[in-house]
Amino acid sequence: MAAHSRDVEGFAQIDSLREISSQFFEMVPVRKLKWKDEEAALLASSPELQRHLLLATVKNPVCQSCPPALSYMRYFMKLLIHKLESEDADICDEMYEAYTDILSRQEDEDETLCYKTYKMPSGESVSLQESVHLVSQGTTGLSTWQAAQHLAEWVIENPQVFSNRSVVELGSGLGLTGIVTCRLCQPQSFTFTDCHSQVLYLLSRNIERNLSQPTLSTDGEASSDRDRKNLKKIRRQLSLSSDHGGGGGAEIACGSDHSVVSRDRIVLRESCGSEDEICSDTVELDVNPSHWDMDATHRLASLNKDKRVNICHLDWECVKTKLLDKLKADIILAADVVYDTSIIPALVFVLKSLLDTGPDSNRKPKAFIASTIRNEDTRDEFLVAMGSEGLKYSVVESPKHCLFYYDRSVPIEILQVSAH
Ligand SMILES: C[S@@+](CC[C@H](N)C(=O)[O-])C[C@H]1O[C@@H](n2cnc3c(N)ncnc32)[C@H](O)[C@@H]1O
Repeated sequence: MAAHSRDVEGFAQIDSLREISSQFFEMVPVRKLKWKDEEAALLASSPELQRHLLLATVKNPVCQSCPPALSYMRYFMKLLIHKLESEDADICDEMYEAYTDILSRQEDEDETLCYKTYKMPSGESVSLQESVHLVSQGTTGLSTWQAAQHLAEWVIENPQVFSNRSVVELGSGLGLTGIVTCRLCQPQSFTFTDCHSQVLYLLSRNIERNLSQPTLSTDGEASSDRDRKNLKKIRRQLSLSSDHGGGGGAEIACGSDHSVVSRDRIVLRESCGSEDEICSDTVELDVNPSHWDMDATHRLASLNKDKRVNICHLDWECVKTKLLDKLKADIILAADVVYDTSIIPALVFVLKSLLDTGPDSNRKPKAFIASTIRNEDTRDEFLVAMGSEGLKYSVVESPKHCLFYYDRSVPIEILQVSAH
């Protein structure tokens, strides 16, 4: 183990190869990996470097605890060997051994879910269990979207905005932005919210995995029967939805027109049929009681290991004032929640209620909303809806540093919104 970490450290000194490792763990589509010719040449010239690269990717311990999709690792190794062969390299034996090992692994139903690991500047990382498909089970919430990565980059550069403040996130999805905020910005409290039961379930597990450390080990996390059963249901439903054209495998990227066509709740309702499905109509939170303390409404729970962290079932389209009162916060965050014009009025209603008054009368609440501008009309409709509710907005400066490896070809904008 000691020798292993030394090797990974050695590897980490080679910046360009470290970038390949980060892209591998974020599961950047293999054909889109940024891989310079000099890097291939450098690798070709040194079997030692090739071993370093293996240790920082497919042979890294993270691949045991939080593995990327098996099909992804296969593509990756195929590309790597192809690159080296085209450079006439002296390929080390371990390279072929690693590829054979990956090819011989059984592909199973686990291919519907995989882990993506996002490395932060501190060297720490956030590992999230995600669907391999961008839109699955009629929801967009089972993958991490570009706007969440963009907003997380902004959060990392602006920790003072969150320090010692109460924060609530709308449409949290799988939790990247919120987990990064909790890990790096010392908020007074953070409440993750979403409306979709499967999203909330995976989100709760991602929070447990990343915010309950070090007491919770990643390999022990799926140990309860209840967790195994829930994950099995999600996987089965995901594999059914992919059979019906719900995605395109680990290589899937946003459609060429960058459109997202899901109507999260409506599509999901249609998909709820059999008895044992986890259905979005459930308003109760389904979280592991050994990690979460549920409140009396069964919509809001706090993390045992860190009471500042909460999770809440919140549907903008049928929300109770009492629940909104409980969610009052200094800062409201949201990423990629403006893509379906039919839910804009409900979203703006929730925003306005949260922005009108905060928990502290001396501080005006503020919202930071990151949106991928796929369609100018949708964005304009959102701005008009906010204007007619008396909400004021301005565009904030984009993060200066590119940390994560998402598609930057479509613009992403962060709006700061307030009520007065
Ligand atoms: C495109 S995803 C973005 C997820 C995450 N913020 C990200 O950027 O990775 C949109 C999210 O909004 C949630 N959502 C959609 N309609 C909602 C509603 N009516 N109430 C609450 N959340 C909703 C979905 O469940 C999903 O998680």
